[in-house]
Amino acid sequence: MNIVLLGAPGAGKGTQAAKLVDEFGTPHISTGDMLRAAVKEGTPLGKKAKSYMDAGDLVPDDVIIGLVEERLQDPDTEKGFILDGFPRTSAQAVALDAELSKLERPLDAALLIDVDPEVIVKRLTSRRMCKDCGYIGTAADKTCPKCGGEMYQRDDDNEATVRNRLDVYEKSTAPLIDYYRGCDLLVSIDGDRDPNVVYEDVKQALSL
Ligand code: AP5
Ligand code: MG
Repeated sequence: MNIVLLGAPGAGKGTQAAKLVDEFGTPHISTGDMLRAAVKEGTPLGKKAKSYMDAGDLVPDDVIIGLVEERLQDPDTEKGFILDGFPRTSAQAVALDAELSKLERPLDAALLIDVDPEVIVKRLTSRRMCKDCGYIGTAADKTCPKCGGEMYQRDDDNEATVRNRLDVYEKSTAPLIDYYRGCDLLVSIDGDRDPNVVYEDVKQALSL
């Protein structure tokens, strides 16, 4: 499975990717997770990305494209990959096409998880994540249900930043829906249902 997960911030890309990883073991390439790890480690990439991320703006294309191109060279991705949060601009989509055609590993699908923006604001302001294993939960999870670790709130999950992320998504990323429809790769599912119900649809849409 070579797939791209499309959808607004908070649509449930990370939640659905985690289920696919648990069941199929496919490598999950989340540019957001890679950038947060770089910020935590204080690398030059992390220092460059932090202010964009905190504001809810996109990190420049050249930085992100290089990061993903490098990750796709890793041998584990030969059996498939789940791209989450990339591509996010037309330039990133074009660069991904070029890289995958060079690697002779075409995309099988671009899966859009569709959720109303007002549902998203509520979801993201109450999201909590595990410091240890990255489990994605909610404010109801006082400790991580998976590993018992400490839960924290992402710096960009406050209402003002969430609203900017939604604006940035509409302006820069939503046009990719038509791009992938034009390539005959787009599949779309309703993400505003129980996560397990959404997951059954994900598998059906991807013929898994
Ligand atoms: P990134 O980490 O990619 O964030 P995002 O796209 O804004 O998406 P999220 O991770 O917030 O949401 P999600 O769809 O994964 O939802 P989740 O499953 O967690 O990017 C962060 C930043 O990094 C960007 O703003 C940018 O600065 C930078 N960046 C990253 N990639 C970049 C790129 N390619 N180019 C440039 N810059 C880039 O779920 C959210 C919540 O909802 C959770 O609490 C979850 O439990 C809950 N939930 C999930 N599904 C359901 C459901 N079906 N019903 C009810 N609740 C649900
Ligand atoms: Mg995510």
